Amino acid sequence: MEEELIGIKNAALSFVLEADSLESLEETKLQFLGKSGKLTLTIKEIKKVPQEKRAAVGMLANEVKETIEQAIESQTQKLKNKNLSHVIKKIDVTSPGKAEPIGHLHLVTQAIEEITDIFKSIGFTRVRYPEVEWDWYSFTALNFPLNHPARDDWETFFIDEKEHDKFGPMLLTPHTSSGQIREMLENKPPIKMLNIAKTYRRQIDVGHTPMFHQFETLAVSENLSITHLKGTLDYFVKSFFGSKIKTRIRPYHFEFTEPSFEVDITCTVCLGKGCKLCKEGWLEMGGAGMVHPNVLKNAGIDSEKYKGFASGWGVERVLMMRENLNIDDLRLIYSNKLDFLEQF
Ligand code: PHE
Repeated sequence: MEEELIGIKNAALSFVLEADSLESLEETKLQFLGKSGKLTLTIKEIKKVPQEKRAAVGMLANEVKETIEQAIESQTQKLKNKNLSHVIKKIDVTSPGKAEPIGHLHLVTQAIEEITDIFKSIGFTRVRYPEVEWDWYSFTALNFPLNHPARDDWETFFIDEKEHDKFGPMLLTPHTSSGQIREMLENKPPIKMLNIAKTYRRQIDVGHTPMFHQFETLAVSENLSITHLKGTLDYFVKSFFGSKIKTRIRPYHFEFTEPSFEVDITCTVCLGKGCKLCKEGWLEMGGAGMVHPNVLKNAGIDSEKYKGFASGWGVERVLMMRENLNIDDLRLIYSNKLDFLEQF
C-alpha cells in the first residue's frame, strides 16, 4: 500500500510539471484526485489495511494528497502568469493610438517673445541683467533721493546680505530701470536696449503679484528727442494692439527721467468712445521719459553730447489689455491652473 501511494505521488507530480495548459492540468487533477481518481480509489482501500498499519498508511495518504494539491496549485499560478504575459505581448496594431498631451509656452513667455520681435524689428537688442541687484543700480544711480519711499521695506524686497561699501543693500529689482545703468556702463552710445525681466514688489492682491515682468527700452544717442520716444512707443503699440490704436503722452514725474510721461493708448474695449473701463477713451499703459542728465552722468555718459529716452511697461499689463481679459484675480496667471492657461 505504501509503495502504491509513493508511486501515485511520483506519477502525479510528473504529470503536473509537464502540464502546459490549464486544461491538461485540470485533467491531471481529475485523474488523481477526482471521485474515481487513482488516489481517491486507493484511499478507499485503506480500510482493508491491517489495523496496526492503518494509521501510518492513512498519514502517508494525506501527505501524498497535500503534496499533489500544492503542486497543482503552484503549476496553476505559473500557467496563469504565462497566459498573462502572452496577452500583454499581443499588441493590437489596428486600435487607435492615445495622443500624448502636448504643452505650450506660458502666456507671459509668449508675450515676451512677441514684444522682443517687435522691438528687434526697429533695431533694439534684448539684454539680461541681474534680478538680484544692488540698491545703487536700482535707486541711487537712477537719481532717487536717499529718503525716497520706494526704498522702504514695504515697497522693495531687501536681501539679508552684508551691505556693499559702494552699492549699498542687496535687493530684488523692483523695476527694469536698473538695466539702464548697467547697459550704459557696459556700452558706448549709440545704445538701443530692450531689457525684459522679472521685477519684484511687496504687493499681493487681486491686481498685483509680488513677481511680475517689465520691458524697458533705452536709447542713447546724439540728437534724440521726445519725438523719437513717441514714435518708438507708437510703433510698438500699433504692432502689438493693432493699427487703430493711438498713443498719447501725459506729463508725469519719475526721478530718472526729465521730462517724464505717462503713456496712454486708445481704449481697446470701446476704441476711444469712452466706457466703464477707461478714462474718456484712453487707458494708462506705463511710464516713459527723456533720461535725466544726472543718470547719464552716473552711468559715465557725456550728458552734454548725448540724449536718451527710456520707457518701462508691464508685460502682464499689456497682455491683459490686448486680450481684453477681465480676470478678477491677476494671481491666476501664476497659479498653474491648466484650464486657464490652456486657453492661450
Ligand atoms: N521704472 C518705472 C516704473 O517701474 C517706469 C519707467 C521706466 C519710467 C523708464 C520712465 C522711464 O514705474
